[in-house]
Amino acid sequence: MTTHSIVAQDLTYAYGDNTAVDHISFEVGEGEIFGYLGPNGAGKSTTVKMLTGQIRPKQGKATLLGMDIVRETNKVQAFIGVAFETANLYGQMSAVENLTLFARLYGVKADVHALLEKVGLDGRAKERVEGYSKGMKQRLMVARALVNHPRILFLDEPTEGLDPVSAQAIRDLIRETRAGGTTVFLTTHDMVEADKLSDRVAFINQGRIAAIDTPHRLKQQYGKRLLKVEVEDGGGRLAAREITLDASDTGETVKRLFEREKVVTVHSEEATLEDIFIQITGRRLAG
Ligand SMILES: Nc1ncnc2c1ncn2[C@@H]1O[C@H](COP(=O)(O)OP(=O)(O)OP(=O)(O)O)[C@@H](O)[C@H]1O
Ligand SMILES: [Mg+2]
Repeated sequence: MTTHSIVAQDLTYAYGDNTAVDHISFEVGEGEIFGYLGPNGAGKSTTVKMLTGQIRPKQGKATLLGMDIVRETNKVQAFIGVAFETANLYGQMSAVENLTLFARLYGVKADVHALLEKVGLDGRAKERVEGYSKGMKQRLMVARALVNHPRILFLDEPTEGLDPVSAQAIRDLIRETRAGGTTVFLTTHDMVEADKLSDRVAFINQGRIAAIDTPHRLKQQYGKRLLKVEVEDGGGRLAAREITLDASDTGETVKRLFEREKVVTVHSEEATLEDIFIQITGRRLAG
């Protein structure tokens, strides 16, 4: 039997007349990293707010670890960690003080120093948070979300605005957290990141799920694998040729090309999640 950490059924939310999340349903398995992807305004944060009990769905319901988030908000919140774009840290306090306070609010014991080391803030743990850079605050948010050893971790754009090294540290931390059995719900509009991290992804567009599957199966289903070949004509000019792989005559086409043309470079290309997202929704992610 599969156990689901999160079950969303028909989740719907509107701000006035603007339906931000429109009858969304999905399930997230225990210990899964679930990538929730979509362009700005797609409804990602609104979904997370409903799942974490910050706003109440207009319709539908969400069950986390078998508990209804609306009916058992406090109980559920003890089991989840949330690192949200807008969540506030206390600027006048240090990182250590922020985490200590948060652990006390939860009534849990936390190894604050180990957490800060994990997110690479151990060197500056005693400084006031108001003096932190954006990336440092973001890393502290992730540490804070882990204080209560959550069974489900919600991360909203955890690596946005981080340099590559810090982003990698956060991704390592996400993997490590999952290795400990925690389910991770990750929103992002970074398709490369989602591809690297997620067991399954959902594509969100205009408040609806446009596709949901493993990155691998999405690529198999929608992506074409291509061979990109550069050939040189007699006059030294370069021209590009594309050959579709996985076609019945691919071998023959490649053979002919090599026999008849002067091939300069060859490389193969697989569709990215970004390509597939555009193909399915007609929309780009980054804007
Ligand atoms: N507090 C709010 N009041 C009014 N409208 C809102 C509010 N928050 C979000 N919206 C609207 O709801 C829709 C979905 O917004 P949401 O923040 O969920 O998108 P998102 O996918 O998280 O986008 P982003 O990638 O920019 O974070 C948008 O049309 C947005 O303008
Ligand atoms: Mg958002």
